[in-house]
Amino acid sequence: MSAVENSKVFIDKRIEVGLDPNNVPNHIAVIMDGNGRWAQKQGFIARVRGHEFGVEALRRITTACAELGLGYLTVYAFSTENWNRPKAEVEGLMNILINALEKELPVLQKNNVRLNAIGNIKSLPEKANKKLNSVINATSSNDGLTLTLALSYGSQDELVQAIRKVAKQVAEGDLKPESITEEHIEKHLFTAGMPHPDLLVRTSGEQRISNYLLWQLAYAEFYFTPVLWPDFDAEGLYEAIAKFQKRERRFGQTSEQLTAK
Ligand code: IPE
Ligand code: IPE
Ligand code: MG
Repeated sequence: MSAVENSKVFIDKRIEVGLDPNNVPNHIAVIMDGNGRWAQKQGFIARVRGHEFGVEALRRITTACAELGLGYLTVYAFSTENWNRPKAEVEGLMNILINALEKELPVLQKNNVRLNAIGNIKSLPEKANKKLNSVINATSSNDGLTLTLALSYGSQDELVQAIRKVAKQVAEGDLKPESITEEHIEKHLFTAGMPHPDLLVRTSGEQRISNYLLWQLAYAEFYFTPVLWPDFDAEGLYEAIAKFQKRERRFGQTSEQLTAK
């Protein structure tokens, strides 16, 4: 399909699901929360059953974002703090990651999705790390949605690493402290080169950001839903986007200034 034909398909889809086709978020960030509570509710003894069904939800949402022609979907899959969970759950999560990467590759290819990852990827088990890199490479020429997995990710850690790099430039005499700009920090973040999220969705009813994209969410709209992640579906996503479309993003300006434009 040509780019023009493609964009018509995206616009038709946006209209079909009741959205304003000209005001969709380019970048959605998601905190996929509630897998453990979902497993408990279903009567599963192991929390990892919830994570397995969480993969299904991620496939649904990635496909829905690709169909709408969005630019970026960035999902919190494993935080630096999640390493402190029981060993069996951490191992279970890593195995689910490896299996999902294997199984989902054809789906990513079919939907023209490029896979990306942010976080301390090297701290993942070697097998997960290798699999991840192979899927990233295999999808690198796809030019539709960019799906970024935040793995072993913590925003404070990301900022510390960025600040260290800037401090090194200062120590070596390549940069004056008073010359440090937002761009110097920005370019050392894991998300360098990506636009900031327009919308943050967190499932499961929790209303906190749990060390996720603290810098990048500076002007994102927040949407919280009580739905547990394994139950989240395309309808839920459209609802979140519809709510986003009703917000007025003022970026510090007044409402009058915005309407005068
Ligand atoms: C989110 O679900 C997935 C990860 C953090 C890996 P949880 O496992 O946090 O589920 P709840 O919050 O305990 O229900
Ligand atoms: C945030 O969820 C991390 C992920 C979704 C991967 P958590 O369940 O770990 O966050 P808290 O502990 O409720 O803040
Ligand atoms: Mg949780």
